[in-house]
Amino acid sequence: AKKITKICCIGAGYVGGPTMAVIAQKCPGIKVTVVDLNQARIEAWNDPDTNNIPVYEPGLAEVVAEARGRNLFFSTAVDEAIAEAEMIFISVNTPTKTYGTGKGMAADLKYIELCARQIARVSKTDKIIVEKSTLPVRTAEAVKSILQNTGNDVQFQILSNPEFLAEGTAVEDLHAPDRILIGGDTTPEGQDAIQSLVDVYSNWVPRERILTTNLWSSELSKLTANAFLAQRVSSINALSELCEHTGADISEVSRSIGTDSRIGPKFLNASVGFGGSCFQKDILNLVYIARSYGLQQVADYWEQVIIMNDHQKRRFGNKIVKTLYNTVSGKKIAFLGWAFKKDTNDTRESPAIFVADNLLNEEAKVAVYDPKVSEQQILGDLNYLQSRNEAKNAELVTTFDNAYECCKGAHAIAILTEWDEFKTYDWEQIYQNMTKPAFLFDGRNVVDKKKLTEIGFKVYTIGK
Ligand code: NAD
Ligand code: UDX
Repeated sequence: AKKITKICCIGAGYVGGPTMAVIAQKCPGIKVTVVDLNQARIEAWNDPDTNNIPVYEPGLAEVVAEARGRNLFFSTAVDEAIAEAEMIFISVNTPTKTYGTGKGMAADLKYIELCARQIARVSKTDKIIVEKSTLPVRTAEAVKSILQNTGNDVQFQILSNPEFLAEGTAVEDLHAPDRILIGGDTTPEGQDAIQSLVDVYSNWVPRERILTTNLWSSELSKLTANAFLAQRVSSINALSELCEHTGADISEVSRSIGTDSRIGPKFLNASVGFGGSCFQKDILNLVYIARSYGLQQVADYWEQVIIMNDHQKRRFGNKIVKTLYNTVSGKKIAFLGWAFKKDTNDTRESPAIFVADNLLNEEAKVAVYDPKVSEQQILGDLNYLQSRNEAKNAELVTTFDNAYECCKGAHAIAILTEWDEFKTYDWEQIYQNMTKPAFLFDGRNVVDKKKLTEIGFKVYTIGK
């Protein structure tokens, strides 16, 4: 198999950035160039102070500091990077379509197609193209068709190499992945291309953890993995509501079932709902594909995971309104956390956005503190929903860079993200400065309900 010495990655986002940084760190002999159209993003990746890189992930600044300028480069010169690379990762966004056929369900593949066309136009030497983005099953066929009909004599091999990292633990996940999945053609050339990529990962991943499959299995496995993970969260969340009506405690139920080795203990935390850029998008995509093959029952089965999640987010907001004597109009509600999970600055599909929107419809005054998310981001997330005009959002929403200030005078606190620091706050002091009765709605089961109740808080915890 061809030995890879130059890699290009198109897309310097939450996946492209960290993934390529780790490949460069672990493979000093390979020159890795990450390119993006977004100049501000590339400039941020090149910031002399690696604490200012655009993706916050524990440990990432150190990895970038080690490799950047040595064999890791960030650039907007897309054509040049494509031209010199032997292997090109496509790691662009594949959001849910917002127009036309499949609107609200199907993956929007326009960025993928643009990449394929750009690669086809620029390439003068043979290349291995690696789909790193999460794609509908059989996308490689379309990519192949674009690349193979360019008229020039360049040979392309297409591989599928989906990424399984979770945000907040990206560096850890990349350093020690449960598995690497590589799908490719069953032809000798396809197998050869697979081997080239296996050789890259083998620099740090044990060979038995590198799985190889055909293209379609690899593409579909990524959607399936996310559907299974999200399904666990919706399953436990569905039961959390039943717990609230029966005196069962969801944490005890999770522990009790998680000790069954067939079920396993992870991913059984009841919450205000799952967020993040992947789960909803990938399940909707799976549902759309199933429907497009006429598989109605399969589609309905997976769609229920989303329906349950929407219910859980709505239920949490409604609970706040109901508990506050059926009106939150003019009341300050303090949000602790805005990111979709701890240890990330990413807010895409964060349940906090939907809970806030719900409360803003009730004319609440929402105060937000998140250790990593900026005011601009928070207002941008709300404005994107277009539920009310931007001036109204700016009037009703205030952000704080200090949690104690954020909670001052509030009628209620809502915990939306499980940031560790929330566990060690001086809750006594926070309580003293709140309007009484002081309510606390823990959407992540992070605080000690017993202790806070003793202080005087009226505490609502999901599933208890
Ligand atoms: P992102 O939006 O953070 O990054 C994508 C980047 O691609 C953007 O910076 C955008 O400017 C750039 N881009 C788009 N079209 C381009 C083009 N034609 N040329 C150059 N640059 C272009 O997205 P992300 O979160 O990194 O996700 C990327 C893919 O990885 C998606 O398919 C996603 O489903 C998948 N994925 C994401 C995660 C995650 O945790 N975020 C995990 C696994 C897989
Ligand atoms: C997910 C997949 O885990 C990862 O493999 C894939 O590559 C991308 O999508 P990510 O979205 O970054 O990763 O984070 P994840 O840890 O999966 O959490 C997703 C959401 O589910 C978060 O909002 C999280 O708070 C929520 N969640 C997770 C729960 O509510 N309860 C749990 O037990 C686990």
